[in-house]
Amino acid sequence: MSRSGFEHEGPGEREGRPNPPPIRRTVTDTGPLVADALALACEIEPHAVAAWPARETAVLGGWLLRFTDGSSHRSNSVAPLNFLGGDLGTQIDQAERAYRAHDLRPMFHITPAARPMDLEQALLARAYQAVSPSQVCVARTAKVLQRLAGTPSAFKSAITDRRFRDLVVGGSRSALDGRERLDILGRIALPLLCTLVVEDDTPVACGVGVRTDGWISLYVMRSHPDHRRRGFAKRVIVTIARWAQAQHVANLFLQVEKGNAPARALYAAAGFVPAYPYCSFVANYQR
Ligand SMILES: CC(C)(COP(=O)(O)OP(=O)(O)OC[C@H]1O[C@@H](n2cnc3c(N)ncnc32)[C@H](O)[C@@H]1OP(=O)(O)O)[C@@H](O)C(=O)NCCC(=O)NCCS
Repeated sequence: MSRSGFEHEGPGEREGRPNPPPIRRTVTDTGPLVADALALACEIEPHAVAAWPARETAVLGGWLLRFTDGSSHRSNSVAPLNFLGGDLGTQIDQAERAYRAHDLRPMFHITPAARPMDLEQALLARAYQAVSPSQVCVARTAKVLQRLAGTPSAFKSAITDRRFRDLVVGGSRSALDGRERLDILGRIALPLLCTLVVEDDTPVACGVGVRTDGWISLYVMRSHPDHRRRGFAKRVIVTIARWAQAQHVANLFLQVEKGNAPARALYAAAGFVPAYPYCSFVANYQR
């Protein structure tokens, strides 16, 4: 177990074999979702990468370097889902140079699926800081539909809808953060559902579902501060779950910061359970 609590030992790597293929046994349509952090991270992380496209990417020794505008951690960090071997220190140096060349702080997205196994320790030894501790949570579509039975659906919207855009930007950490998220959503080439709740002609809540192979993931869940605790976010979630059911997608996932108590309570109420933790490891580096 590493300092930040992630298990990094993956089957195969110990013997120097290549990284294992995604493990599918945890996502069968009928069984319970197994609380196996490593297996779920290996399964889900490629979907999380695909569903949230950075503006620019580069491949470095099996890692995917993602560059956007510097706000969303996921789209401005290294996704280290594979490691082809070689000197780890040299490869970290190369990644750091690439981020500095983009005027971005070097950042790594560390999940239990991060490779190589000693990456987290190597980053800590370079005084990287683990920030934004978060969780990936999963749910069966059927369970969410059962929990939220009777909840009215939201409207179908579009990324270009001004009401949707205002909710996303207004509910984000900053205008830059909100705009970066809208740009990312606009780049998604996968099937997606953009939803909006309108109450008395006022847009009050939104969210997006993105479909990858076998999963639908949820993004930009926002309820207007004046209209919270009225069940509007539940309407967004049930709408995405109904869309998943219509497409025979049995599994949902989302990402939430551990410190976001309202969102975690919402997702637990909807039937989501924690699958695995992740953090952003940020270089202690002055521009
Ligand atoms: C998280 C958020 C989307 C919830 O929206 P909402 O419309 O208020 O949620 P709902 O009214 O549908 O809440 C449904 C359930 O979630 C839980 N919940 C929601 N907010 C809660 C809070 N502040 N405290 C405790 N439980 C909460 C409750 O179980 C609630 O049911 P109840 O009101 O019958 O007790 C909203 O707080 C928000 O926009 N936050 C800022 C953006 C954000 O953090 N988004 C999530 C990113 S992962």
